[in-house]
Amino acid sequence: EKEGYPFFMIKEIYEQPRALRSTIHGLVNDVIIDEAVKLLADADKVFITGAGTSYHASEYFALTTMKLSGKPVIPFIASEYEVYAEVAGSSDILIAVSQSGETMDTMKAVRAFKAKGCRIISLTNIVDSAIARESDIALYTRAGPEIGVAATKTFLTQTLFLSWISILLASETGRLNSNEVAKLLEELRNAPRYVEESVSMSSETVKKLAEKLVPVKSMYYLSRDIGLPVAREGALKIKEIAYIHAEAYPAGESKHGPIALVEPSFPVVFTVPSDRKLEKLLLGNIEEMKARGGFVISVAPQGFNLNERADIVIEVPRTHWILTSLTHTPPLQLLAYYVATMKGLDPDKPRNLAKTVTVE
Ligand code: M6R
Repeated sequence: EKEGYPFFMIKEIYEQPRALRSTIHGLVNDVIIDEAVKLLADADKVFITGAGTSYHASEYFALTTMKLSGKPVIPFIASEYEVYAEVAGSSDILIAVSQSGETMDTMKAVRAFKAKGCRIISLTNIVDSAIARESDIALYTRAGPEIGVAATKTFLTQTLFLSWISILLASETGRLNSNEVAKLLEELRNAPRYVEESVSMSSETVKKLAEKLVPVKSMYYLSRDIGLPVAREGALKIKEIAYIHAEAYPAGESKHGPIALVEPSFPVVFTVPSDRKLEKLLLGNIEEMKARGGFVISVAPQGFNLNERADIVIEVPRTHWILTSLTHTPPLQLLAYYVATMKGLDPDKPRNLAKTVTVE
């Protein structure tokens, strides 16, 4: 049921705080999480995989874990599993991330890693899904059913869930002390409130911006570090729902080729995490785009001084950087939704796509 919303996608975007509350409830009460963290801490190599949005959540986990616990994590796109399975062994772990728990590419990766003797931890949204059944430890996001083809609430719940694990892992590896752990977990518990604030702070600006993007054919989504998977997610949303060609890549790469496409009014969206060092670096990249006449849109925390540099600033709450996916993704989802509906497209039924892809 759409509960009065015109489309499932917008209903599910607004449902995100509720979905996160139930994810947090699950995290606090599920003893199996500790078992998963121990397995990860003892593992030789940790791999994480998924397709589409679930891959973006996987990349997010790799970054948070490396930043917090110092443990290397290898993220890969599920359909590329073969070469990664080749180097996996019996003291390694694969985390398989899938909303549906039915995606064939992810399932193939699971089976290939199992054949090498790896243990499998799955994170799905559907209890007893095929991937959950094939794994040693089955974890669940508890976002509730997601009907829209575009993944929305499941991305936020996946990244929250995985960030929680990164923090516990950093505690296990001794990189974070108990005070730091408690502080970070508390910040994650505040995620539902931050998402509400992000939506209410950004939606008017996003609607106005969407009108400007209706005629656009191509755009870039740039970021660095923890902001990069979020930029990738923004680009995927606008591609699949609003049919705008969008490419996401690390901002530092611009000068190695992509900047050749930037001409007056070419839109470039910058995802600026809550991190002063990254802000400084990204400001340099924003200048490069402005110098070529690019139309710069930045999604940035309140209090970051981007107003004079960017053409449009979408403000989101200022938090610890670990919450970047939670604060910065909602405006990017809304942007894709509004551009699509302004073009008269049905965001719940994008062409050529199915909610669950059960073919290779
Ligand atoms: O059910 P899964 O999470 O395994 O699905 C993976 C992708 O097919 C999925 O995220 C797809 O990219 C979405 N349409 C993105 O919005």
